[in-house]
Amino acid sequence: MTEPTISILPDKTALVQYALGRSVDIIQQAIADHGYCTLALAGGSTPKPLYEGLAQQDLPWDKLYIFWGDERYVPVDHPDSNAGMAKQAWLDQVPIPADHIHITPTAEGDPAQSAQGYEDMLKAAFAPLQPLSGAGFPRFDLIWLGMGDDGHTASLFPHTAALEEAERWITVGDKDGEPRITFTASLINHSRRVMVVAAGASKQPALAQVFSATAADADYPIRLVRPTGTLEWLLDAEAVGNLALPDAQRITP
Ligand code: 6PG
Repeated sequence: MTEPTISILPDKTALVQYALGRSVDIIQQAIADHGYCTLALAGGSTPKPLYEGLAQQDLPWDKLYIFWGDERYVPVDHPDSNAGMAKQAWLDQVPIPADHIHITPTAEGDPAQSAQGYEDMLKAAFAPLQPLSGAGFPRFDLIWLGMGDDGHTASLFPHTAALEEAERWITVGDKDGEPRITFTASLINHSRRVMVVAAGASKQPALAQVFSATAADADYPIRLVRPTGTLEWLLDAEAVGNLALPDAQRITP
């Protein structure tokens, strides 16, 4: 892994605009390089304005392939659905071919069966696009991630079995007993690019631990994100506070 880059923006609005510009560049580079772009979306609240900004772009939508890094175990029309949020903010506003949008299955009543189903869906989607890595994983062009106040990412929560899954692409996450369907750290770490977008003062305590030399990965699972490609952290000043983050660049829009 190359060293992570850390960009600090003055506020959330500037953060979202900067993330939008970086994301459009990455999407365009991927398409120029190999004719398509595979994207894994983050859930939660932070990315919604980013998705709304992407809906306003003029991109070759038929060359994008959409996946979700994690999903709550609810139908897509449920208010907690990550897919529902992204469809409303972005995907229903642009002509991405329907068979390029891979919504996580959550209707089986058995999260382990749904996780296997999603892994099968991803394998079928990537088969015509690219050979798998030597370890048997695909390489996403870009995976967006958020970070919870507890240092989780995707649905890789502290001290859960999902953190130990190294062979599978998709596993079952556990948020206080609530099942989630999530990318494994192994799948995330095969990505060409990973972009973490986090904002707000509530992220600061976890950030201090994530970038400390002594914290345990199991306590702050986003520490497991060490992609073979690039890792960029996009943060607002509130999330960073007075933390001294390694080689962080303060960006003035
Ligand atoms: C989810 C997310 C999760 C999220 C973080 C941060 O399904 O909730 O994928 O990992 O990214 O909890 O959430 P916020 O962006 O709302 O702070």
